[in-house]
Amino acid sequence: MNALEELKQKVLFCTQCPLHKTRNNTVFGNGNPDAEIMLIAEAPGFYEDKSGIVFQGKSGKLLDKILDASGFNRDEHVFISNIVKCRPPNNREPNDSEKKACLPYLYSQIEIINPKIIILLGSTALKTMINPNAKITQIRGQWINRKGRLVMPTYHPSALLRNQNLKRPVWEDFKNVVAKYRELVNPEHYSAHC
Ligand code: URA
Ligand code: SF4
Repeated sequence: MNALEELKQKVLFCTQCPLHKTRNNTVFGNGNPDAEIMLIAEAPGFYEDKSGIVFQGKSGKLLDKILDASGFNRDEHVFISNIVKCRPPNNREPNDSEKKACLPYLYSQIEIINPKIIILLGSTALKTMINPNAKITQIRGQWINRKGRLVMPTYHPSALLRNQNLKRPVWEDFKNVVAKYRELVNPEHYSAHC
């Protein structure tokens, strides 16, 4: 078994925080284990908990559209995961002790997958990964260097579903990612829209 698969087996049966009691499925993350881009969001929701797969609901459909417009797809270019791997009841934000219990798994995923680019989707991912005081409205769109990896914070797709005005900034952020991907990974990378 490879390192990521080994980690996954451990996470699937994890009982390190109380979220395990209410979950139906642990959501480890999905995508290409060799991807150069990792996307990190907040936590599984209703459909993710049901299926065990990340981003299955409405915001997942929107995320797929954004990736597609950038010439990326889930199987090839990205690996997607969350700050916590089990659904918080009623989709509340994960609390500090849950995040603390679960974060070592995310850090191991990052080490194993070793992406050049990390996209943080939304405030929870930004605050947890970069700085608890960081504001997504101020920081989004700016590259942050985190231990040699380039991190791009942007809005969570569910925020876009609530507020159409966020579409443009998110699109700008993904254009930025596509440009960086061409620079660091594949100069020939094709995308229909940027
Ligand atoms: N929202 C998230 O933050 N993560 C998912 O996996 C799905 C929706
Ligand atoms: Fe374990 Fe993370 Fe699930 Fe808590 S949320 S039970 S730490 S996998």
